[in-house]
Amino acid sequence: MVTIAVPVEGEGEPRAAISPETVKKFIALGCDVVVQTGVGAASFMADADYSEAGATVAASLQETLSGADVVMKVNRPSAEEIGLMSEGTVVAAILSPHDDRDGLEVLANKKIIGFSMEFMPRITRAQSMDVLSSQSNLAGYKAVVDSAAHFTQAMPMMMTAAGTVPPAKVFVMGAGVAGLQAIATAKRLGAIVTATDVRPAAKEQVESLGGKFVAVENEEFKEAETAGGYAKEMSDDYKREQAELVAKHIKGQDIVITTALIPGRPAPRLISAEMVHSMKPGSIIYDMAVERGGNCELAKPGEIVNENGVLVMGPLNIAGALSGNATSLYAKNLYNFLALFISKEDGLKIDYEDEIVQGTLVTKDGAIVHPLLTGEKS
Ligand code: NAI
Repeated sequence: MVTIAVPVEGEGEPRAAISPETVKKFIALGCDVVVQTGVGAASFMADADYSEAGATVAASLQETLSGADVVMKVNRPSAEEIGLMSEGTVVAAILSPHDDRDGLEVLANKKIIGFSMEFMPRITRAQSMDVLSSQSNLAGYKAVVDSAAHFTQAMPMMMTAAGTVPPAKVFVMGAGVAGLQAIATAKRLGAIVTATDVRPAAKEQVESLGGKFVAVENEEFKEAETAGGYAKEMSDDYKREQAELVAKHIKGQDIVITTALIPGRPAPRLISAEMVHSMKPGSIIYDMAVERGGNCELAKPGEIVNENGVLVMGPLNIAGALSGNATSLYAKNLYNFLALFISKEDGLKIDYEDEIVQGTLVTKDGAIVHPLLTGEKS
């Protein structure tokens, strides 16, 4: 029997790694499920819902983790949690392996079999396990709704007897999962939407959602997508040309939503203080990349900076603000992943040759093993 344990997340994390729905699914796979009391409280999933689904609700962290074969979390387990796990425990979470190397060593030293969910390969078979996609999609929607709430004008055009209200102009920088959802949401609200990216594949996607694509489309742009589907760091020449284009375009925008990320690197700087100063008072910049250093020079994590009337928003854990949806989707991503190697017949049996296992495994047998972390691949 495989025992799955799910502790309560730390401060500031409303999401949970399991939902009553996935408890049922794990039990159908022949697992025992133990959740710490209050695990889903911030997502309005009550202890009673978990126990009704078949989980044991444990009163303390210690009780939750004792005897666990697999521990599921949203964020990396704390030192206390790791201390309470046995050697060889499987941990699946967003481990942020690039951000805190020392923390990763703690997992490795405890001989944890650690899977970093954000390393999920972008292949068709893994789509249902892709936590970055599920969470970014929600965040892209929330970015538009939050920006609109702070914007003191209407989003759609309104033709009234008293005159015409012009539609808001929304510019989305980075048209990946979050950006595309932001474009779709802003369009639904009636805004005029433009978007930019460095990957050529993004152009058609932006246009198919009714947005206008604005980008430096030179030779480098044609090569900017990696085999994994992500963007590369661009050359200084490209960055200069891009900045000139953005500087011209941004002046006339009401709401700018930035989502640009490069895996394992700081977020690219796309909006300078000077560009912010060129915008009209009352405009909004919503920097979704603030946790990775920010796309806007003036964005501060967790703050709304008022720069001469332009609000520069630096929200944290945006998906977490839609905790009910975020927990449901994240929990399903984890279930789909663990179901790869848990079965009624064989219990827990990890196939280390599987591309998905190899792509996400970061610690095993006391060592950090992922090629992106051992310097074997960049
Ligand atoms: P991301 O979160 O790493 O980056 C967000 C966006 O910023 C990307 O579109 C990237 O190209 C863009 N960006 C990076 N540097 C930039 C710069 N200097 N200027 C402007 N834009 C910049 O990417 P995300 O959203 O996680 O995914 C990227 C793509 O991966 C998706 O659009 C999709 O095509 C693909 N994908 C494939 C999946 C699968 O096949 N299973 C699942 C999810 C995504």
